[in-house]
Amino acid sequence: MNIVVIGGTGLIGSKTVAILRQGGHEVVAASPKSAISAITGEGHVVVDLADSPSFEDKAVLEFFETSGRNLLAAEAAAGGVRHHVALSIVGTDRSDNGYFRAKVAQEKLIETSGIPYTIIRSTQFLEFLGGIAASSADENMVRLSPGLFQPIAADDVAAIVAEVALAAPRNGIVEIAGPERAPFNEIVARYLKAVGDPREVVSDPEARYFGGRVEERSLVPLGEARLGRIGLDEWLRRSPERA
Ligand SMILES: NC(=O)c1ccc[n+]([C@@H]2O[C@H](COP(=O)([O-])OP(=O)(O)OC[C@H]3O[C@@H](n4cnc5c(N)ncnc54)[C@H](OP(=O)(O)O)[C@@H]3O)[C@@H](O)[C@H]2O)c1
Repeated sequence: MNIVVIGGTGLIGSKTVAILRQGGHEVVAASPKSAISAITGEGHVVVDLADSPSFEDKAVLEFFETSGRNLLAAEAAAGGVRHHVALSIVGTDRSDNGYFRAKVAQEKLIETSGIPYTIIRSTQFLEFLGGIAASSADENMVRLSPGLFQPIAADDVAAIVAEVALAAPRNGIVEIAGPERAPFNEIVARYLKAVGDPREVVSDPEARYFGGRVEERSLVPLGEARLGRIGLDEWLRRSPERA
């Protein structure tokens, strides 16, 4: 199968490209600009795994709106794209932070594009735990909501993205999450302890996640979800430099 992966150099993109190539597929790793020339002819699958270089509210909205619009227009102009796959986030429609609003805008463009699609909504990546701790830190204290959290390993995400790309379009949303569900503060505390970070994690129901309120089930799937296999301990074991 001919597959174009936008953001093919990123965390999930590079793993997805490797899995698809191992399966014998013709894969082009492209940026939104080069994708416009990469999408030619019939039967293409386009997997959009690009992410905004800036997470600032206005910049991130502009990134997902512009790249989504350009990419989908290029796909419509080329014709014959059989499946557009994009990676979004569980709870984008249930929280109020600027990044989530940008992902909702990206989802809307896809849903109204007329191109067959599958949106994969994932929970936060385990690889993102250090960044979450950093963004929630205040000197030696990390304040996090006790809302439920269910992070997933990038290896599990990439395997599922590759599988979805090769399957028929759902014209809808599928949700994926990690194998363990626990309060946000508890999982980050386990992670910091394992990596030898001395900062204390404090449970604070008022703590915001990238500016948005986190209720008990804001960040976890509410319905059926496909679960990854790699939990926090196994993820740390697989890469000793993380611990
Ligand atoms: N972080 C999470 O916990 C989480 C959870 C659920 C879903 N997601 C979604 O997962 C997707 C992939 O995330 P990731 O962590 O794998 O991203 P990443 O590692 O930051 O990679 C981003 C990719 O986007 C490309 N890119 C950045 N700016 C670009 C631009 N202006 N034009 C073209 N390409 C550009 C990068 O290319 P270069 O290498 O050339 O810069 C890179 O290939 C994102 O859509 C994100 O919203 C993330």
